[in-house]
Amino acid sequence: MHHSLLLALCGIASAFSVPRQASNSTKYAVKTPPLTTPWTYTAGTDPWPEYPRPQLQRSQLQSLNGIWTYQNASSLDAINSLPSGQLANEVLIPSCLESGLSGIQGEYTIYSWFATSFDVPSTWTGDRVLLNFAAVDYEATVFVNGRNATFHRGGYFAFTVDVTDYLNGNGQNELLVFVHDPTDSDPYVIPIGKQTLRPSHIFYTPCSGIWQSVWIESAPASHVTQLDIAAGMDGQVNATVSSSGNSSAQVQITVTDRKTNTTVATHNGASNVECTFSVQDVSLWSPDSPTLYDITVTLGDDVVTSYTGFRTIARGEVDGIERPLLNGEFVFQFGTLDQGFWPDGIYLPPNKEAMVYDLQTLKKLGFNMLRKHIKVEPALYYQACDEMGILLFQDMPSLRPSQQRTLDNCTVETVLPDAAQQDEFARQLELLIVQQRHFPSIVTWVVYNEGWGQLVDYYPEFALTDRVKQLDPTRLVDSTSGWYDHGAGDFSDNHHYANPQCGSPFYSIASAPYDPSRIGVQGEFGGIGQNLSIEHLWNVQGAIDTINQTYEIDTTIEAWNYRGHRLLGELLDQVKMYSCSGGIWTQTTDVEGEVNGLLSYDRRVLRPDVGQWQADIQNLYDAAAARNNASMPAGGG
Ligand SMILES: *[C@@H]1O[C@H](CO)[C@@H](O)[C@H](O)[C@H]1NC(C)=O
Ligand SMILES: *[C@@H]1O[C@H](CO)[C@@H](O)[C@H](O)[C@H]1NC(C)=O
Ligand SMILES: *[C@@H]1O[C@H](CO)[C@@H](O)[C@H](O)[C@H]1NC(C)=O
Ligand SMILES: *[C@@H]1O[C@H](CO)[C@@H](O)[C@H](O)[C@H]1NC(C)=O
Ligand SMILES: *[C@@H]1O[C@H](CO)[C@@H](O)[C@H](O)[C@H]1NC(C)=O
Ligand SMILES: *[C@@H]1O[C@H](CO)[C@@H](O)[C@H](O)[C@H]1NC(C)=O
Ligand SMILES: *[C@@H]1O[C@H](CO)[C@@H](O)[C@H](O)[C@H]1NC(C)=O
Ligand SMILES: *[C@@H]1O[C@H](CO)[C@@H](O)[C@H](O)[C@H]1NC(C)=O
Ligand SMILES: *[C@@H]1O[C@H](CO)[C@@H](O)[C@H](O)[C@H]1NC(C)=O
Ligand SMILES: *[C@@H]1O[C@H](CO)[C@@H](O)[C@H](O)[C@H]1NC(C)=O
Repeated sequence: MHHSLLLALCGIASAFSVPRQASNSTKYAVKTPPLTTPWTYTAGTDPWPEYPRPQLQRSQLQSLNGIWTYQNASSLDAINSLPSGQLANEVLIPSCLESGLSGIQGEYTIYSWFATSFDVPSTWTGDRVLLNFAAVDYEATVFVNGRNATFHRGGYFAFTVDVTDYLNGNGQNELLVFVHDPTDSDPYVIPIGKQTLRPSHIFYTPCSGIWQSVWIESAPASHVTQLDIAAGMDGQVNATVSSSGNSSAQVQITVTDRKTNTTVATHNGASNVECTFSVQDVSLWSPDSPTLYDITVTLGDDVVTSYTGFRTIARGEVDGIERPLLNGEFVFQFGTLDQGFWPDGIYLPPNKEAMVYDLQTLKKLGFNMLRKHIKVEPALYYQACDEMGILLFQDMPSLRPSQQRTLDNCTVETVLPDAAQQDEFARQLELLIVQQRHFPSIVTWVVYNEGWGQLVDYYPEFALTDRVKQLDPTRLVDSTSGWYDHGAGDFSDNHHYANPQCGSPFYSIASAPYDPSRIGVQGEFGGIGQNLSIEHLWNVQGAIDTINQTYEIDTTIEAWNYRGHRLLGELLDQVKMYSCSGGIWTQTTDVEGEVNGLLSYDRRVLRPDVGQWQADIQNLYDAAAARNNASMPAGGG
C-alpha cells in the first residue's frame, strides 16, 4: 500500500489505491532471471512509490504502478480490435517485458497489449485529470474506456494526456495501451542505444513496454505544463513557466533555501515568456557541495514544486588550453561509462535503493562524473545525481548501430538512417534536451557515439549541435564521442582501449588527432576485464561465449588493480603534460557478456582496491587544479 507512503512524503490530502479485480490471468511472480541482484526479490508489487517527476510535482496524484495484465500480439493490425477485460498474464508495471521482474521475461515482444483500470478520487479538486507515462518503449497508443486518447513515439521520453473527456462520470475507467517496439528489426533504424533483438557482447537484451512510472493527477484547466529553470553562479534565474490554455496567465515563482527553509526570492511574471530575476548570496552547486534550492510556482489554482542548483557551465582558455569550466574554474571531470543495465530489470533497476547504490559506489571511489551511455534514465536518477553532486555527460540514445544487412538480391549494405529516420532522430534529440535540461547535474550533451547511425556523406552533427545549443545555451555539446569527428561541438573526444590518448600528441588511426581548438577528453578508455565465477555472471551461454572478446582479461583481481593503476597513471601524465580535461573509464558495471565493470553485473563484487583507486583519482584532480589559472575571468568564453 504505497499510496500512504506517498501521502507521508508529499503531504497529499487524499488518494486511493487502484482496486484489484479477481482475475483469471496468469498470476504475477518474478521470473528467475539469468542473474539476480540483492534487490530482485525485495522490489515487490507496488514498485517505485517515489514521486516520479521531481522537477514538476503536483499534490493530487495517484500512482498506477503495480500489477496490470498483458498479452502478446502478433502484428500492428492487432490495434484494430481492442481486447476487453483482463488480459492473459499479470505483469508488473513499470518493467521491461524482457526482464525477470516483469513476470513475463519474454522475447520478441514486438507488439503488446497492457490493461488496467482506475478510479478518480472523488476528493480531487482540479477540473482536469492528466494521465502521465514517464516512458514507454517504443510506440504507445493509449485507449481510455475504449477511446483512443493519444499516441506517442520514442522509448525514453515522458508524455501526458488530458483524459478528462474520456472518463466515466463515476466508477471505474478502463485503460488499455498498445505498444509496438521494433528495436532493431528491419527496416527500423530508431534510437535504441545498446538494445538489440540479437544480444552479443557489447549489445544487450532489449527493453519493451511501459518501463517507467504511470500516474494520474488532478489539475485546474489552466495549469503548468513545463518548467524551464536555469540558475547561474551569479544568482541569476531564467525561468519559463509553460501553461495550458491561457497564454498570458500570471505566475509567481518562489525560491527557498533548503537548509534554512527561508524564502530567498519571489518573482511575479507571466506564463509562456522567459522571466529573469536574481537571488543574492547564493550557495553554488558543485560535486563537492551540491546545494539545491526549492522552487514553488503558482499559476492561478495550480501550485507545483520543483528545485534548482546555481552553477555555470562554460568553456574557456586556461593558460592556453581549452577547458570545461564549472563556476569559472577548470575542474577535471572524471567518470565512468554508465550503461544503466540490470540483470533482473534490464533498463529499470529493481528499486531506488538499487539505483542509488551504483551512484554511491562511484562517489565513494572519488568519481565526480558519469557518462550516461546512450540511455535516458527515470527522472529520479537525475534528481539523485543533483542531490549527490555527480556531473553528467548525457548521451542521446544512438540509432541502431551500423550493422550490415543482406538484400534479396544478395547485395550487402550498411544499415543507416534514411531521411525520415534521420528527422525522427533529430526530433527525439530535441525531446531529450527539452525534457532533461531541468537537471543541474547534466553538464554536457553527447549527440553521436562512435559513429552509430551517424551519416558521413554529409555531417549532420553540425546542424544537430546548433539545434541543441539553441534549445540549451547553458551547457556544452560533445557532438561526436569517438570516431567520425569533423570539428563540430565543444570537444575533441577520443575513444581508445585500454590506454588513454587524452588531449595528447599521439593517437591511433580510426580516431582523430587531438584538436587544440576544442576541449580534449577521453570519452572511453580502460575496459579491462576480469572473469568471475558463474554465480556472478549473466548465465546465458551465448553471452559467456563472448567474454573472450574483451579487450584485455586480467586473470586475478590483483592484476586487474595493477593494470587499473597503470592506466590511471597514464591518464595522470596526460593531465600533467598535455591537454586532457576529462576521462571516462569503461565501465560502472559488467553487462551481460562484458566482465569489465568496477562492479559485477549482480552488484555483489566490487573489483577496485578502494584506497588505491581513491588515491589515483584524487591525483587526477590535484594535477588539474595545479594547471587551473585562478586569474581566469569568471564565466569563461
Ligand atoms: C509474441 O508473438 C511473437 C509473434 O507473434 C512471437 O515471436 C513471440 O515469441 C511472442 N512472445 C511472447 C513473449 O509470447
Ligand atoms: C477471463 O475471463 C473473462 C470473463 O469470463 C473472459 O472474457 C476472458 O476471455 C478470460 N481471459 C482469459 C485470458 O482467459
Ligand atoms: C490514435 O490517435 C492518434 C492521434 O492522437 C493517431 O495518430 C493514431 O493514428 C490513432 N490510432 C488509432 C489506432 O486510431
Ligand atoms: C539567462 O539569460 C541570459 C540572456 O539570454 C543569459 O545571458 C544568461 O546566461 C542566462 N542565465 C542562465 C543561468 O541561464
Ligand atoms: C488569462 O490570464 C489573465 C491574467 O492572469 C486573466 O486576466 C484572464 O482573464 C485569463 N483569461 C482566461 C480566458 O482565463
Ligand atoms: C517551511 O516553511 C513553510 C512556511 O514558510 C512551512 O509551511 C513549511 O512547513 C516549512 N517546511 C519545513 C520542512 O520546515
Ligand atoms: C540490389 O537491390 C538494391 C535495392 O533494391 C539496389 O539498390 C541494388 O542496386 C541492387 N544490387 C544489384 C547488384 O542488383
Ligand atoms: C569465464 O568464466 C566462465 C565461468 O565462470 C567460463 O565458463 C568462461 O569460459 C570464462 N571465459 C573466459 C574467456 O575466461
Ligand atoms: C571465443 O569463444 C567462442 C566460444 O567458445 C569461440 O567460438 C571463439 O572462437 C572464441 N574467440 C576467440 C577470439 O578466441
Ligand atoms: C594565468 O593566465 C594569464 C593570462 O593568460 C597569464 O598572464 C598568467 O601568467 C597565468 N598565471 C599563471 C600562474 O600561470
